[in-house]
Amino acid sequence: MTEQFEPLKNDLLLRAAKGEKVERPPIWVMRQAGRYLPEYHEAKGNRDFFACCRSPEVASTLTIQPVERYAGLIDAAIIFSDILVVPQALGMQVEMVDKKGPHFPEPLQSPDDGQYEKIMQKQVDVKAELDYVYNAITLTRHKLKGRVPLIGFCGAPWTLLCYMVEGGGTKLFVQSKKWVYKYPKESQALLQKITDVCVEYLALQVAAGAQLVQVFDSWAGELSPEAFKSFSLPYLRYISSNLPKRLKEMGLEPVPMTVFAKGAWYALDDLCESGYNVVGLDWQHDPAESMKVARGRVTIQGNADPGVLYGGRPAITAAVEHMVKGFNGGKQGWIANLGHGVTPFVDPEDLKFYFEEIHRLTAQ
Ligand code: CP3
Repeated sequence: MTEQFEPLKNDLLLRAAKGEKVERPPIWVMRQAGRYLPEYHEAKGNRDFFACCRSPEVASTLTIQPVERYAGLIDAAIIFSDILVVPQALGMQVEMVDKKGPHFPEPLQSPDDGQYEKIMQKQVDVKAELDYVYNAITLTRHKLKGRVPLIGFCGAPWTLLCYMVEGGGTKLFVQSKKWVYKYPKESQALLQKITDVCVEYLALQVAAGAQLVQVFDSWAGELSPEAFKSFSLPYLRYISSNLPKRLKEMGLEPVPMTVFAKGAWYALDDLCESGYNVVGLDWQHDPAESMKVARGRVTIQGNADPGVLYGGRPAITAAVEHMVKGFNGGKQGWIANLGHGVTPFVDPEDLKFYFEEIHRLTAQ
């Protein structure tokens, strides 16, 4: 399947993800294609967000923008899409409201609402429903011409459940908590349903050309350590153990897998045993402390506070120095990133400086 693409000229990310010793740490950042880039707004124009995701031409252009702007400085592309395409594939309507974020006009209310049954019964055709993502991935691989590897992704089941029941972003998680504490069995059945779609979705992304996959559990930090063990971790593990099996059935080689469970500092040890090659950290982890916990079991990805990019050059240098030192110089077991996605209003030149400082401080 992959022989149709040009060979990779830069495979640092894949080697580091597998735990190999590397010349320097690979670098990329979450949300590297996005609103802080003027060229993003230009290419997007007044198109709807999900229309951009559905157009392989637009999605591939947006994916490659940071690779071109930061040529020679970053070592991966991540496909331009969104975690909420999975709830869409499950039959839910999701809109992206300008300056507000995602909105579900009809979130799931309770296990007795007709919608829950409908979702649970739906035979999701993961190939057909999300075909536009696979097409975008294949087109992007062609356009990348082997410059850097392409990352595929999905949302973690717990995070997707939160969006499906809250209907959008939230501070209180009233509905999510109601679901897991009042309807634990029905929540777990829904989580499994989402998980099955995620496994197939990631496998098809790999078949289309994704070279590493990342699972984003952005709301993991809302759970207690105990609840994380019931409502998040088993599904993250199910993905890491079943994706390789599914790829094998499809006649494909396994790819490295990354888990990013934001806020789940309490679960770092468990995440190191969860079957992923890479564990992404938010900025609430101290690099050196996290290396002590990880004990070489996984590669660590992260993790400076994206907010440091608002703080000017000396602050950026200090943050990079702290990471490089904590991650033992960075030549094994580290993929440089931020602790979460790059935020709007960041000056792209400051992000460039962040990349340059990682290069400077990890050279020899
Ligand atoms: O560059 C990349 O990282 C690839 C593209 C990407 C997007 N969303 C594009 C996007 C990825 C990997 C995501 C994942 C995603 N989407 C997550 C997990 C990562 C995280 O940030 O925790 C989550 C929780 C979402 C859901 C989502 N999508 C929200 C909450 C929002 C609105 C607020 C925000 O942070 O931007 C989106 C919209 C979205 N997804 C935009 C982009 C570029 C902004 C759209 C716009 O207004 O133009």
